[in-house]
Amino acid sequence: MDVKIVKDKVAGGQLAFDIIKEDITNGAKVLGLATGSTPITLYQAMIASDLDFSNMTSINLDEYVGMPFDNPQSYHQFMKDNLFNKKPFAHSYVPDGMAEDIEQAAADYEKIIAANPIDVQILGIGRNGHIGFNEPGSDLEGRTHKVQLTESTIEANKRFFEREEDVPRYAISMGIGSIMQGKKIILLAYGEDKADAIKATVEGPVTSHVPASVLQNHDDAIIIIDEAAASKLS
Ligand code: F6R
Repeated sequence: MDVKIVKDKVAGGQLAFDIIKEDITNGAKVLGLATGSTPITLYQAMIASDLDFSNMTSINLDEYVGMPFDNPQSYHQFMKDNLFNKKPFAHSYVPDGMAEDIEQAAADYEKIIAANPIDVQILGIGRNGHIGFNEPGSDLEGRTHKVQLTESTIEANKRFFEREEDVPRYAISMGIGSIMQGKKIILLAYGEDKADAIKATVEGPVTSHVPASVLQNHDDAIIIIDEAAASKLS
């Protein structure tokens, strides 16, 4: 693991962008992308750049089940709002949470990943060490699958919805095994809230209790964190 400590999230987004830019110059064609607040400064750096992604492919980590793509809370819409409307890719894949058969959609997504091997995978991290929607206890070799959201995630998501029954209960997520196939992985984390998860990821044992700790087994994993997220590292 290559840990890089930066001043703040703007510097982190810029550093991740610089790494991706060099990889693209060297032939990278497929980016694995994440949603959430963390990658936004990276997407802002991508938008501000003169790089063209229109001959590249993007593959997102996850999506809610049963949420229409045009719902403002869907990850399809998040990606349009924060990146794709300004910087389109030739092909952008986000898991199909509206599929009638979610298991089939998950299997189809694995075929997409196999046909488009991810050159650089971007990740955020949950306060409990989750990556994608792979919560503590997930199979470290798992593939894209349907996930039941934990009560704490449902609780945290409530603020985005008018009615409690609209809060998604399930998601479709790349598994940890799918994520680990990325040739390079860049995990981003900012703020004190993430300090415990970063300590466990970087200095703890590799364990399914902290899904991100599996990145210790990847031979090209870069962890970009600000000083607050690094504050508990020894
Ligand atoms: C998003 C994702 C999640 C987030 C994580 C951190 O696609 O898969 O694992 O990366 O929950 O979220 P933020 O960045 O909002 O703190």
